[in-house]
Amino acid sequence: MSDRTIIVVGGTSGIGLEIAKDVIAHGDRVIITGRDRTRTEEIAAGIGPGASGIALDISEPETIAEALRPVGAVHGLVLAAIERDANSARDYSIERARRLVVLKLVGYTETIHTLLDRLDPRTRPASCCSAAGRRTCPTRARRRCRRSTAA
Ligand SMILES: NC(=O)c1ccc[n+]([C@@H]2O[C@H](COP(=O)([O-])OP(=O)(O)OC[C@H]3O[C@@H](n4cnc5c(N)ncnc54)[C@H](OP(=O)(O)O)[C@@H]3O)[C@@H](O)[C@H]2O)c1
Repeated sequence: MSDRTIIVVGGTSGIGLEIAKDVIAHGDRVIITGRDRTRTEEIAAGIGPGASGIALDISEPETIAEALRPVGAVHGLVLAAIERDANSARDYSIERARRLVVLKLVGYTETIHTLLDRLDPRTRPASCCSAAGRRTCPTRARRRCRRSTAA
């Protein structure tokens, strides 16, 4: 096990979870985040001994700094959090739309801002989405994030 730690925001399912498994398979440590602490810790335990979990809700950006306070040096940051919300034009909810925009635009950037001083300067954050990241996933799972773009 190396002394490198990768944090995967939104690592309890989907692309984030696959990246977290890949990080462990390559001998690094991983911290995954999800909204529910108990569930996130259980999923981290299932990934392996080098994985740990913390609770984080990036749709509430004011809480991010406190939630990430226990995190030490970070050698890679993957942003894969998304709230799956089918918000159709017919039944449109401005409140839910606004929450999703805050999550993606404010939450992603505030997470980077919060971790910046703990982030290895050779690392650039990777985002598994279209608007906020760069093609720099720290693991071979980056192929799954091929559509990532620059932060
Ligand atoms: N799936 C695709 O085909 C695809 C294609 C291109 C791009 N993407 C992008 O890749 C990213 C991940 O997609 P996915 O399909 O892997 O998603 P997913 O399986 O739905 O996983 C979403 C993750 O985000 C976490 N999350 C949800 N709401 C959150 C919040 N408010 N704060 C913090 N974390 C939160 C979830 O954790 P909890 O539920 O445990 O809280 C979960 O770990 C998204 O940005 C998506 O747009 C996906």
